[in-house]
Amino acid sequence: MMKPYTYFIFMLSCSLIISLLVAAEAQNGPIAVENWFSKLPNAKEKLTKLHFYFHDIVSGKKPTAVPVARANSTFASPTYFGLVSVIDNPLTAGPRPKSQIVGRAQGITGYSSFKELSLLMTLNLVFTSGEYNGSTLTVVGYNPFTQQYREMPIVGGSGVFRLARGLATAQTAKFNRRTGNAVVEYNVMVLHY
Ligand SMILES: *[C@@H]1O[C@H](CO)[C@@H](O)[C@H](O)[C@H]1NC(C)=O
Ligand SMILES: *[C@@H]1O[C@H](CO)[C@@H](O)[C@H](O)[C@H]1NC(C)=O
Repeated sequence: MMKPYTYFIFMLSCSLIISLLVAAEAQNGPIAVENWFSKLPNAKEKLTKLHFYFHDIVSGKKPTAVPVARANSTFASPTYFGLVSVIDNPLTAGPRPKSQIVGRAQGITGYSSFKELSLLMTLNLVFTSGEYNGSTLTVVGYNPFTQQYREMPIVGGSGVFRLARGLATAQTAKFNRRTGNAVVEYNVMVLHY
């Protein structure tokens, strides 16, 4: 049996440890996320506009878009049907490859049409600078990349972009026929809290 005084000290230490643990819990821990959701009924949705360039580097010493699978019939197909790549493409503030990196587009793309050159895009836009550092947006969409504008849904997000929805409009800014490398301009309109 503990003496009342020892018991008091014991309980005090326990509550101190618990409050320290709660305070130490990261902003993206389960308690913080639950808190965030509990405040949602009073939260106001806002619109954020993002603009950046996506560098699809398929050749050279350090390609960032790498084919990983194909069907036997892929290279007999005029539309490369069945060719799947994994990408980790840099996103930059300006159109030049050396301009400031603001994030990465990480995901899987696959040629998914028999009739035209088009890709299924499944991407996480992982931001690494400024107020969006550590936040992500998820894009799942249809990308007929020979067309001028391609509209792809933003289906969700994390961090600053929790419960995001919106649209990404992609437009090829530069395409090098010899290397296959492309620079694509992205305009993103996203609703979030
Ligand atoms: C693909 O080609 C390989 C080699 O020619 C063959 O062994 C395999 O059975 C083919 N797969 C399909 C799904 O046709
Ligand atoms: C982004 O966040 C990471 C992890 O918190 C940190 O290491 C990095 O320095 C930050 N980058 C910028 C540009 O703020």
